[in-house]
Amino acid sequence: MASTRWWRSGVIYQIYPRSFADSDGDGVGDLRGITERLEYVRDLGAAAVWLSPIYRSPMADFGYDVADHTDVDPLFGTLADADDLIARAHELGLRVLLDFVPNHTSDQHPWFQESRASRDNPKRSWYVWRGGDAPPNGWVANFGDQRPAWTRDRATGEWYLHSFLPEQPDLNWDEPAVEAAMHDVLRFWLRRGVDGFRIDVAHAIGKDPELGDNEPGRRHNEDWPSVHPRLAAIRRVLEEFDGDRVAVGEVYLLDQRALAPYVTTGDELHLAHNFVFLNLPWSAQRFRETVDEFEELTREGGWPAWCLNNHDHSRTATRYGWTRARVAAMLVLTLRGTPFLFQGEELGLTDVPVPPESIVDVDRRDPERAPVPWAPPSAACPGAGFTTGRPWLPVHPDAEQLAASVQAQDPRSPLAFYRALLALRRATPALQEGSYRSLDAAPDVFAFVREHAARRVLVALNFAPFPRPLPAEAAGGRLLLSTHATTGGDALAADEGRIVEL
Ligand code: GLC
Repeated sequence: MASTRWWRSGVIYQIYPRSFADSDGDGVGDLRGITERLEYVRDLGAAAVWLSPIYRSPMADFGYDVADHTDVDPLFGTLADADDLIARAHELGLRVLLDFVPNHTSDQHPWFQESRASRDNPKRSWYVWRGGDAPPNGWVANFGDQRPAWTRDRATGEWYLHSFLPEQPDLNWDEPAVEAAMHDVLRFWLRRGVDGFRIDVAHAIGKDPELGDNEPGRRHNEDWPSVHPRLAAIRRVLEEFDGDRVAVGEVYLLDQRALAPYVTTGDELHLAHNFVFLNLPWSAQRFRETVDEFEELTREGGWPAWCLNNHDHSRTATRYGWTRARVAAMLVLTLRGTPFLFQGEELGLTDVPVPPESIVDVDRRDPERAPVPWAPPSAACPGAGFTTGRPWLPVHPDAEQLAASVQAQDPRSPLAFYRALLALRRATPALQEGSYRSLDAAPDVFAFVREHAARRVLVALNFAPFPRPLPAEAAGGRLLLSTHATTGGDALAADEGRIVEL
């Protein structure tokens, strides 16, 4: 694994452990299940896996409520299983990123248990407490219906802050002991060999210490200037270790001008998810404007990180339909920047309908979290190769056709398309490291050229459901890949994406 800056050239594949592969038949995915399936991720052509949280947790937010940062939840396995997973991944040439959840812990975490015990407990300052008859300010919690981000705790009659569920009290990053303890958590896992972290709600670890109310154009409960030195300090912890470890932030800021500073200074996050695509209408012009703007913002430094899905969002194939989803896939895998894929995206999975009475997530994110179908369901194994037991969420109703084992045999399947795209990206330095320049193409066409060491690759994406002209620059180019088995020749077919070497 000698390559430098692997996190720029490679694709990062997100695994949601509960739903990836279950090795012990309890219906919930686990670490051994993941380890057994790592070859699949290698064969897909990804460079790394990012695991959503595997730590001990009461699972009020399915692991994003951590009760012990330095142990694996028994549902997922043991620390030894984590070591095996990391070792096997490295054997296969894959890196491993863990989710790191710095903004909050579980209310069951011993730190919070101590903190809530009394007003003069030494850990009182580790969380955000205030007295008074009403919530200290108007901040609202992130899930659902605009509930206050404050809960009054019985033990001491004071309010504590929770940006998410009441079961997820916010740590107080203005307390240096918290920062030091969280750095030690990072070191614990870095020593065990992990290659980096995806940092959950990274922009929230800087908040206004005065607890000012949010104002139009200025939020006081996230993206506060103190966030930047804190992320820089996290990076320095990673740099204590060799091997090109990486810090990826979940920075959910849809204004790219606010997002860019997280990655442009060169001493903070290596990557920050850009979620803007998830909120755009299907418009070539809007996608182009978005990419051009972020390119402009990161011209002097900073590397984009594009994504279309994760475990919090309706799947692309549901939002767009597969015909457009594959155009979107071609886009994120050919832009300048690191693409993130969410498990099952490569199978063209759609959201799974979950009957209302079976919804288990507080924010109703069950449909995109349904298990990966590995094999067609059968009478003997109704769990579609995901589990021999009863899956915690329903398997996809079309698992018969969508199963990975079925798609692997079909050269026209979504899986085959993704494999071809990733293989092309791996074989084409221009697509990994090349410069980016968008073209003035026909309406509905987003086209750009990536250039590296005098080799030029043109990508043309037709957002329209009818044919559109190819950009003139593509003339005479050599076809590298199309979304369509038969390309439209001199024109782009309806919903066609095409990659051409110039
Ligand atoms: C992030 C995670 C999400 C979680 C939340 C609270 O947004 O992606 O799943 O619920 O943080 O930790």
